[in-house]
Amino acid sequence: MAKCRICGNAISAFMTFGRMPLANGFLTPDQFKDEYFFELAPAFCDSCHTVQLVDQPAPEAMFHGEYAFFSQTSKAMAAHFERFANDTMARRLGKTDPFVVELGSNDGIMLRHFAKAGIRHLGIEPSANVAEAARGQGVNTRCAFFGAETAREIMAEYGQADIIQAANVMCHIPDLNSVAEGVALLLKPDGFLIFEDPYLGDVIRKTSYDQIYDEHVYVFSALSVARIFGSHGLELVAVEPQVTHGGSMRYVIGRKGRHVVEASVAAAMADERALGLDKAATYDQFRRNCEASKDALMAALNDLAAKGKRVVGYGATSKSTTVTQYCGITPKHVEFISDTTPTKQGKCSPGAHIPVKPYDAFASSYPDVALLFAWNHAQEIFAKEEGFKASGGRWLVYVPEVTFI
Ligand code: TYD
Repeated sequence: MAKCRICGNAISAFMTFGRMPLANGFLTPDQFKDEYFFELAPAFCDSCHTVQLVDQPAPEAMFHGEYAFFSQTSKAMAAHFERFANDTMARRLGKTDPFVVELGSNDGIMLRHFAKAGIRHLGIEPSANVAEAARGQGVNTRCAFFGAETAREIMAEYGQADIIQAANVMCHIPDLNSVAEGVALLLKPDGFLIFEDPYLGDVIRKTSYDQIYDEHVYVFSALSVARIFGSHGLELVAVEPQVTHGGSMRYVIGRKGRHVVEASVAAAMADERALGLDKAATYDQFRRNCEASKDALMAALNDLAAKGKRVVGYGATSKSTTVTQYCGITPKHVEFISDTTPTKQGKCSPGAHIPVKPYDAFASSYPDVALLFAWNHAQEIFAKEEGFKASGGRWLVYVPEVTFI
């Protein structure tokens, strides 16, 4: 029996998505034979209410020197991180020689705003090539994984932090107890840990099961976050919903008793109980919803293939790996995936081995249907792809329901 990574309670998977490759494991045909697979199976802990993966590949297998994920791929996300940085500077930052640490600072997309404002800062980024890109932007970056040990090193060099920030990072870290321990050491008495991640409430409401993949070892709720950090002398003091990644939540955490707990915390917890996020039965229903979504998507794709329609994927997202592999989408269904990220182009998608091509391949010869793998950017994409619609093209989306637009 597996144990909850947070509280040690016995857990078992409420469903399996089956054999799964690394979500960001874009590869060339000569690498197909050595492709890495693991079983993607999420579990719900009925003691601390944390949704988590039972098995996960070693972090070194996922975030290595050639890791393909760069944050600066979307204008809307760049604007979001600028707002996040400005909001922290305006509302949460201490006044005396403040020091900001960002966990998983990627290519410096957020921290560069602190750097520009002349604020002492340090990014912690485990991928060497990504850390190097951040340094090139003038963002002070250390290549490391964050835990109690790294926290001690940072304290020795810089002192305690006013703000520890993280975006789409905390849910990647299996040993969260070590992170919480590190935060409890590194944070100033009145400092804040502020992080955001895809939100379990949105995943359950929208059946957005593609948020579940190797890198996302957790899908958080206010209920679980309060428990996780609560056992390290820390307290959830505010939550702020975000539209990013198809629905995220920002969690603001301080040392216990140092801040007023805002009404948003009790309100989110009440909402989560009403949605059943604290009950195992909710996850059984989620499994049935995933199965229905898969059946509907494959019915649509098989029908298009039978009619000889050209279908192209839009956005070789990490999360689309769960969709292609779980549903059984092949290059017979989807001719190629268009993506603007140079490191993904010319490679094939993990598992399904659908070729990834530059954006121009889509724009120069519109398909009949574009399968929107980057559905979290739908607004931005629909706005710039009016020409595709005008040519008679249709979008196929699968969140919250399988629909043509
Ligand atoms: P992202 O939103 O980061 O999703 P995930 O976390 O699941 O990887 O990835 C967006 C991907 O879509 C990225 O590879 C860039 C690509 N993309 C395009 O090709 N065109 C676009 O217009 C947008 C917004 C994204």
